[in-house]
Parts: sequence; structure tokens; C-alpha cells
Amino acid sequence: MKKIISVIGARPQFIKHAPIEFAFKEKVNSITIHTGQHYDKRMSQVFFDELDMSPPHYQLSVGSSSHGEQTGKMMIEIEKIVNEEKPDALLVYGDTNSTLAGAIVASKLHIPIIHVEAGLRSFNKKMPEEVNRIMTDHISDLLFAPTDPAIENLQNEGITKNVYKTGDVMCDMVRIAQERMNDEPSSQFILTTIHRPYNTDDKERIFTILSQLNSLGIPVKFPIHPRTKNRLKEFGIDTSQFENVEFLEPQSYFDMMELLHHAKCLVTDSGGMQKEAYIAEKKCVTVRSETEWLGTLKNGWNTLIFDNLDELAEVIQQPVGEYTPNIYGTGQAAQEITDIILKHLEA
Ligand code: UD1
Repeated sequence: MKKIISVIGARPQFIKHAPIEFAFKEKVNSITIHTGQHYDKRMSQVFFDELDMSPPHYQLSVGSSSHGEQTGKMMIEIEKIVNEEKPDALLVYGDTNSTLAGAIVASKLHIPIIHVEAGLRSFNKKMPEEVNRIMTDHISDLLFAPTDPAIENLQNEGITKNVYKTGDVMCDMVRIAQERMNDEPSSQFILTTIHRPYNTDDKERIFTILSQLNSLGIPVKFPIHPRTKNRLKEFGIDTSQFENVEFLEPQSYFDMMELLHHAKCLVTDSGGMQKEAYIAEKKCVTVRSETEWLGTLKNGWNTLIFDNLDELAEVIQQPVGEYTPNIYGTGQAAQEITDIILKHLEA
């Protein structure tokens, strides 16, 4: 059996790895390294418990620090494990610092790199994720791109070999979540998640975002990322003044999908949640100046808003047009990806 090390570390990667771990069962000797980039129980352990995932084989405790320190610490530890385990390939997901750390280590040790969620671009190099994606794609040996624009982005950068368009593993997970739901969707509140540094790290901006959310005339539920929570505390912003906004702890995966199911609309700056909202057929407003998920923008299913935050209420009210189903696959991505990986490694 081929041995594959998967490097995971941030919340969305636990969700992306769950269907892959399942598809790998009895086909791959699957080893996981958790870098410890996310470490709070509600940002990490809760997903392993709820999604019935095996505990990581290696648990690092890298924690939070500057980008260089965080990525460097991960690399030091991952290198030791890769040298010891000598895997046939190393798999990384998406665009976090954990992704880049795993990819650089494997590249230097000449271990084939598999990148799941390849080819996404926001074209904003000020976002650390954009740098992480570009660098990971350029040193990967097998690239799984979830959309046609992602394939084109890779082509434009000269990456054409071993690039596959498969469904998106997050779509696999939304389908699983939907199967568990036995109530009809509703539109009771606005669901929001805001955690990008450019929205949270400026006192005036985060205050304006919260003030706009508070004045929508419909209740808002806000599961709050620790980064955002810490910033509000540092800035001395009293959250009780936003009486229409209910601040919640970070949610488990199925609880979050349940909240989305009953939301009128999602207001977010997350990458993954834009896609989850689309797959769940919920309108999204993205508090960013660009998105890597271009397909979600079609017919108003997702709208970008950045400078003119006072337009939020109006944008939320705008009706959506025709919905294009299955742009992120049909829920079989992990299986498709596993089959292609095995074909390559066994060739
Ligand atoms: C990271 C990813 C981002 C992804 C997000 C998902 C990078 C560069 N960014 O951003 O792409 O959308 O994860 O959530 O990799 N913190 C805690 N407890 C935790 C984790 C974080 O308190 O368990 C706090 C710390 O104050 C930390 C801050 O959140 O400094 C930011 O964490 P970090 O992992 O650096 O980046 P995220 O903002 O979570």
C-alpha cells in the first residue's frame, strides 16, 4: 500500500480532509500531521470528534505567531517526520501556512506533492493565502483544481502537467451535511463570519462592519473566530451595543451547516464559506474586494462589497437569478481524487 502523509492544521483543512480520509480507507496507508496552527477545541478537536476522523498520527504544537515563525516551526517538525516516514507522497489542502510548510518540506526532500484545491487565485498578493497558493501550485506534482477558471489560472502560469479538474471536497461534505437535515430550509436570520486581518485588524473598520450588521433590521448570528474576538477585546469594543447581533462561539461543522440552512443570507469574508453557501443555494455577500470563487458571483448568488459597507442592507435585498447546479461537483470529489492519486503512484 502506498504511504501518503497529509498535512492539516487550520479549521477548513479538517473539513476537507474528512472525505479524503474516508476515501483512502483500505486503499492508502494514510498518515496525518496536524501542525497545531489551530489549537482551540472549537477550532480543531470538535471536527475530529464530529466528523469521526482518526486522531492525527503526529500532533505538532506550532500555535499562533508571525507568518515566518509559524511556517518555519512547522517546517522544522514536518521535515523530521517526513524523513522518518519516507512517504510515497505528501498531500496538502488549500492555502494556509500549514499548506505551504508541508509543500516546501516535501519539495526539498523530493517527495511528490499533491495539492487539493489547486489553481485558485484572488490576484491579491497582499493576502498571505494568495502567496501560499501560488508557491504550492508551482512545486506540486499532482494538482486537483475544482473549477475551469482554476485550470486556466494554472495554464496561465505554465502549469499544465498532471492537472485534473475534479469536484470539490467541500461539496462532498455539504452533501453529507444535507443528508442529515430533516427540516425545510428557512430565512430566519443573517449568518455572518468575519476573520480576515484586513477586516478585523483596524478598529474603525470592524466597528463599521458590526454597526452595519446591527442595523439590517433582521437578527444576525455571528460565530466569532478567535482572531476577531481578540481584536474586539484589544480595541475595547463593547459587543453588547450591537443588540441585533448574537455572538456565538465557533461552531462545529454540522451546526454551521444547520445555521446556513436557516439563514436568509451569509455575510462573510471566508473563502470556503462562499462556496458552501453557493452549494447550499443561499445568497452570499462577501466583504472583500476580490474572490477566488468566481463561479459564485454569477446571477447575484455572491456579491463583493468592500469600500461601500453602507450598501450592505441594499445588496442583501437584491434578488438572485438562475442557479447553476453542481459547479463544485456532485459530492464524489474525494473518490475521484483518490482514484487519480492511486493511478499516478502505482504507474
Ligand atoms: C488561517 C488561514 C486562513 C483561513 C483561516 C481559517 C493562514 C495564513 N490563514 O487564518 O486562510 O481562512 O485560518 O480559520 O494560514 N487563534 C486562536 N485559537 C486558534 C487559532 C487561532 O486563538 O485555535 C487566534 C490567535 O490569536 C491567532 C489568530 O487567531 O493569532 C490567527 O490565527 P492564524 O492561524 O494565524 O490565522 P487565521 O486568521 O486563523
